[in-house]
Amino acid sequence: MDLDSLREASRLSPDNAPLLKLLAQAELEAFNLENARRALDALERLAPSDPWIVQGRSDLDGIRRRLSGESPVSPVAPVRVPSSGNPDAAIPSPVVDDIDAMLADVERKTGSRPQVTFSDVGGLDSVKEDIRRRILHPLQHPELYKQYGRQAGGGILLYGPPGCGKSLLAKAIAGEISARWMEVGIHEILDMWMGNSEKNLHALFQKAREMAPTVLYFDEIDALAADRHDMRRSAGRTTINQFLSELDGSTASNEGVLVFGATNSPWHLDPAFRRPGRFDRILFAPPPDESGREAILRIQLRDRPQKDVDFRKIAKKSDGLSGADLKAVVERACDVVLSDSIKSGKPPAPIATSHLLEALAKTTPSTKGWFETARNYALHANHDGQYDDILQHLGMRK
Ligand SMILES: Nc1ncnc2c1ncn2[C@@H]1O[C@H](COP(=O)(O)OP(=O)(O)OP(=O)(O)O)[C@@H](O)[C@H]1O
Ligand SMILES: [Mg+2]
Repeated sequence: MDLDSLREASRLSPDNAPLLKLLAQAELEAFNLENARRALDALERLAPSDPWIVQGRSDLDGIRRRLSGESPVSPVAPVRVPSSGNPDAAIPSPVVDDIDAMLADVERKTGSRPQVTFSDVGGLDSVKEDIRRRILHPLQHPELYKQYGRQAGGGILLYGPPGCGKSLLAKAIAGEISARWMEVGIHEILDMWMGNSEKNLHALFQKAREMAPTVLYFDEIDALAADRHDMRRSAGRTTINQFLSELDGSTASNEGVLVFGATNSPWHLDPAFRRPGRFDRILFAPPPDESGREAILRIQLRDRPQKDVDFRKIAKKSDGLSGADLKAVVERACDVVLSDSIKSGKPPAPIATSHLLEALAKTTPSTKGWFETARNYALHANHDGQYDDILQHLGMRK
């Protein structure tokens, strides 16, 4: 059903919660943030315990933050002097300046070689192992792979619930092999298809190729590649085709360039993106299991004053929490300690198990809502077993 029909249907049956949820999702996907908020509010009044509400609100927040400039604002485009050398002929060139501004934007967040490595990523052991074998090894031994006609690099789709380490993992991959890191957010992607998208995309990939080894990370790739008729969510056909030909190396070789597409909604991805030579390796970043949670807690606490923390106990009690949730628990525990110290006028105590338990009690697991949606796709749209990992995680398949 398209957005207009959903709105109309929901107007005619305002008490239909499932319909409201669909509407809220569709408004979110179309970036109609105000409408999405209204639909979410109405849904919350009707079905306050619907777990998707948390996810919806966090999506809404995420999009709002990104669109309202948490991503850096484009710098003022420089005036270019044409190479003919006549300074009087200096004219701002919109096409070239757009590209420069966009690349400057991307580079500001990026450019450098990340210091994080796998040791900063807690849990995800089998994912890390898989990455070592299938992704890092070829990059570390390109000549070997070349002999067999295989190239090192190419596309990898990373998916999973929010806050479970997709961005962190990709950055750590760059850190492991001292590659350059280039991150492209929804903000840049949106800008790209507002004009000159083909040139911009090409310039972006060229930059990544020049700096290889490079990890080129597209956050919320579903925004570029939505398998929907909603054109505001999806880029235009030409942009998509350009992206695909940059990705599959038909424009220029992507030797040494790892292109990551990250998404919370892989089911919205146009299947053309998954074809061989494109995002043909797919990695699921699940929420951490108990030992993963323990590892993440240790990482998050490692540089903070602490005493006799019972990591096992906190890990046991935090089922369903994402890495980002666990980070929030640790930060909350720090706040408890600091505000206690202000109240008592004594120096702050080291973080103890009790502080963490107190913080944990105030933290709701954020991954459950995601699995509500994911389960449906995994059960009813699991073409080629693409969501077997989700089923396995849910214990619905061995
Ligand atoms: N496995 C992990 N080990 C250590 N820290 C983690 C882990 N997962 C998440 N975190 C913490 O949570 C933060 C957010 O995680 P990250 O941005 O990687 O999640 P994401 O999967 O990309 O989420 P989103 O879908 O919202 O973009 C990280 O910066 C890190 O501090
Ligand atoms: Mg991320």
